[in-house]
Amino acid sequence: MFREVINTISPYIPGKPISEVKRELGLEKVIKLASNENPLGPSENVKKAIKESLSDLGFYPDGNCTELKLKLAKKLNVKPTQIIFGAGSDEITQFIASIFLNPGDNSIMARPSFPRYETVTKVMGGLPVEIPLKNHTHDLDEFAKHINERTKIIWICNPNNPTGTIVKKDELYSFIKSVPSEIAVVVDQAYREYIDDPEYPDATQWLYEFKNLIVLQTFSKIYGLASLRIGYAIASEEIIEKLNRVRPPFNVNHMAQVTAIAALEDTEHIQKAKELNKKSLEFFYKSFEEMNLQYIESYGNFVMVDLKKDAVEIFKKLLLKGIIVRPGDIFDMPTYIRVTTGLESDNMEFIKALKEVL
Ligand SMILES: Cc1ncc(COP(=O)(O)O)c(C=O)c1O
Repeated sequence: MFREVINTISPYIPGKPISEVKRELGLEKVIKLASNENPLGPSENVKKAIKESLSDLGFYPDGNCTELKLKLAKKLNVKPTQIIFGAGSDEITQFIASIFLNPGDNSIMARPSFPRYETVTKVMGGLPVEIPLKNHTHDLDEFAKHINERTKIIWICNPNNPTGTIVKKDELYSFIKSVPSEIAVVVDQAYREYIDDPEYPDATQWLYEFKNLIVLQTFSKIYGLASLRIGYAIASEEIIEKLNRVRPPFNVNHMAQVTAIAALEDTEHIQKAKELNKKSLEFFYKSFEEMNLQYIESYGNFVMVDLKKDAVEIFKKLLLKGIIVRPGDIFDMPTYIRVTTGLESDNMEFIKALKEVL
């Protein structure tokens, strides 16, 4: 009855929702530092836009996201026809797999990295080729060695989730240039807005040079709209036109569209989130150093720290104290946890709890 490949796919394991932990453990207060959301949530502008949008909820949304697309195209300096929106950038990974992969084709990705690249490849009957990270970073030399005539997509998560490491400008540029033009290169920049480092490349700048390049971005992270599900891809008009053929007609809801418009205009809120994240990372690093714990320096809003103990056990103990983090077992890093930066008080409570459970 079921396709054989379905049995090889593990369901996505999300960070535990706050409501579930409260219910299961009978806790009143729970701090979630597990899914790389912005702890400030959306801005006041966004909340106002939500209220204003309530009168339109009975209508189907604009499937083309016209107003948002025009605004975003202007901001990014690309044509509106170079953008497609998804119910999260996650949904767009499915579109990408479905327009490029025939059964037996392969796609190349790092391991550990964002797990959806593997899943969407398998769903299409494709073969995920997973290249181990080197020094917690994409090993693009190995990527290049694994390209063959069945390779259709290369996924580069920059910065990488879960390690927070980046591929720097020159290296990324040379790699993309070396990839045959009939293979799609996807650069997932979900955490791009957190980064100021001049060595970090925004791959959007290369879209005119590389017609096989697709850049993924999202409103779920710094913009604080994770629950509304909206992300986007920027690519050549040809690729976007093909992606639109497989996109469900009303995939991005109206509230997501109006809030994304409001969020785009909200530079102050973004700056605030960025500063908070920077401070939080510094606090985590300092605390980990005091505790003699090794961590991987991160360009995102999360950090992997090595507890030198079974991380699932520590995860469970932290949960009992009302703190949700991500154990590293699912990333083949069984002694690490990944912790998202939170509000100042949340970060302090996490460190206090971590000291206790260790
Ligand atoms: C690297 C990366 N890409 C994509 C996503 C998915 O984001 P979205 O909420 O836009 O589907 C995430 C979410 O954690 C992520 O870490």
